[in-house]
Parts: sequence; structure tokens; C-alpha cells
Amino acid sequence: MKIDGTPYRSVWVDEQDRWSVRIIDQTKLPWKIDILRLTDAPAVAHAIRSMQVRGAPLIGAVAAYGLCLSLRQDSSTQAMEDAAATLVQTRPTAVNLRWAIERMLTRLRNTVAGDRVRVAYQEAAAICDEDVAQCEAIGRNGAELIDEAARRKPGKPVNILTHCNAGWLATVDWGTALAPVYMAHDEGLPVHVWVDETRPRIQGAALTAWELGRHGVKHTVISDNAGGHLMQHGEVDLVIVGTDRVTRAGDVANKIGTYLKALAARDNDVPFWVALPSSTIDWTVSDGIGEIPIEERSPTEVTTVTGRALDGSLATVRIAAADSPAANPAFDVTPARLVTGLITERGRCEASEKGLRRLFPERAG
Ligand code: MRU
Repeated sequence: MKIDGTPYRSVWVDEQDRWSVRIIDQTKLPWKIDILRLTDAPAVAHAIRSMQVRGAPLIGAVAAYGLCLSLRQDSSTQAMEDAAATLVQTRPTAVNLRWAIERMLTRLRNTVAGDRVRVAYQEAAAICDEDVAQCEAIGRNGAELIDEAARRKPGKPVNILTHCNAGWLATVDWGTALAPVYMAHDEGLPVHVWVDETRPRIQGAALTAWELGRHGVKHTVISDNAGGHLMQHGEVDLVIVGTDRVTRAGDVANKIGTYLKALAARDNDVPFWVALPSSTIDWTVSDGIGEIPIEERSPTEVTTVTGRALDGSLATVRIAAADSPAANPAFDVTPARLVTGLITERGRCEASEKGLRRLFPERAG
């Protein structure tokens, strides 16, 4: 996608040295476009843990490059396995991280140490290119829903509510939940997005709103608590969110607060769609509430807010008394029964084992 006319991906290999890894520091957005250069695996682990890069598909892609950087320093099997184990542990909920590292290891374990660096960069690039193609296909498959909604209300904008950031910043390009929005907008359909601010880290207000603005998509930032009210008043035509892990039974883990939006959507007969590439499906688990690990992050993310002070400087301010305890579960699970359907690169399906296996028959058995 473009930032002020210049096309960007959210991760790339430096064009000059052809080995270091470039990312956009998402902790600085929307105030500053800060491009970081990562040169070793610890820097990659730090970037993922501190959320300089975030979003399920993107952390998988960046972790793959983390393994490349580690192999440049030591291509032995032991060092490779150790680096992989460290990278996998950086964030527990998004399964794309494990998926990308396992894919890299499957390729690299069968490669002699002397060839590993070259093969690793090839595989990481393939992961990125496939993610872009899959997200573009998700865009096409999801834009059909927006088109159908537009036909039901000619001349009026289709109002889509989204939570957190599942746009191009969260993937290598296009995004998951936002790919259909971009595709519909580019086709000339009238779209307007309600952007949940997404406390505590504000990925909605800081990232989603910024992305949509750069692409010229109409949007409005709302507080996390406003969605139910808007649905009651007919102001939301459909909800589209991304996800960090979908079980084979169709349960969906996504940013904390997603479940509440699904409950409100069900109560108001608003379709609730979840967009994902197949790398987000965890075929090894079925019961999302019981089996998906939920990341617990620092309580200070809840008791503080970071923003730009009136003098232009970045400031972090406390919003709770210094001695108030806080808890910070970062994700929740929306049961499949509340999900209208899944939008994947292979098409749409019901959120169920039957639905997923219909689209991915090679997973049968
Ligand atoms: O904690 P984050 O910002 O990495 O959480 C991201 C989300 O919950 C996204 O909705 C998810 O990764 C969607 S996939 C593009």
C-alpha cells in the first residue's frame, strides 16, 4: 500500500546491503514514519515483543527474517534451533509466528549448514510474497460482501466496523480485515469504516485510522464502547475483524474486546465476518477458549496512555492512581457460533470444521 504516493511493504530486506531487515516502527505511528534496520535475531525478538512490529501475519514474516539473521552469524543446527525457540516465544497467541518458524525449520533442517543462509532468505521472501497474494485474495473475496451490502442501500455508504489493526501494517501488504475495504474503495464502492480505538495499545486509532486516511478511505474513530450503540441504531452494516488464531472448529482469537463486538453484532443481526490467511488456522486445536494461549501483557499498558502533548512531544501519562492494580489480557476468543463466516484466500466459509475442511480439503483426516 502507499504512504503519500510511495508504495511500502511492512517488512523488506534492505536494498543496499541485501541482508539486513527493514521495518516500520509501529510504536511511533501515527506521529512519525521511523524505518528501523534490524541486524540480528535479538533485535528481531525485541521488535516483536515490544510491538514495533505486530499483527499476526507480520510477526510470522519478521520472525522468519530473524532466523535468517541468526544463521548469518551461526548456521549450525544447534544455533538455528535455539534461535527458532527464542523467536517462537516472543508472542504466544498469534499462531502465524509458530507456523512461519516451523516452515523455515522444515526447509532448513534438510539443508546443509553452508547453504542455509541463502535458502533461509529465499524461504522468508516466499513467506512474504505468499502473504501478499493471500491478503489480496482475501480482499477480493471480502469485497463481494461489501458489494452486496452496497446494492441493498443504493447511494449510501456501507458502514463497516473493525477492531484493532488488521490492515497492511499487520500483514506484509493489503491486510486481512481491511483488504476487502481497500479493494471495495478502489472499485469505487462507497465505504465508511467505524474504527474501534482498541485500548489499551490503541492500534485502531493510531494505526487503522492512519492507514485508512493515507489510502483515502472515509472512517471515524470511536471509543471501544460505542459499537453496540451504533449497531442498535442501524449504523453498522457489517463487522469485519482479523484474527491471530482460528481453531479447526472455527473459534476465533483476536484482540481483546472482539468477543464483545460479536455479542453485540449477534444481538442486532449485524453480520460478523473474520478475515484470515490460512497461516492463521491452527489445525491442532479445536476449543479456542480452552486451548488458545492468551498473552498477558504489562499492566502499565492499561494504567497509562501514550500520545502527543500539545507542545508536539511524545508523552506517556498515567490514567489510574499509582497504586491501582491492573490486568491486561491482550486477546479474547469469539466462539464459532457468533461468527457469520470466515473470509480466506480460498473463499468464504462457515466458521466450523466442516466449512474449513471444505476450503482446505488437503487437511481432511
Ligand atoms: O497485539 P497485536 O496488535 O499484534 O494484535 C493484532 C490483532 O489482534 C489483529 O487483529 C490481528 O493480528 C489481525 S491479523 C491482520
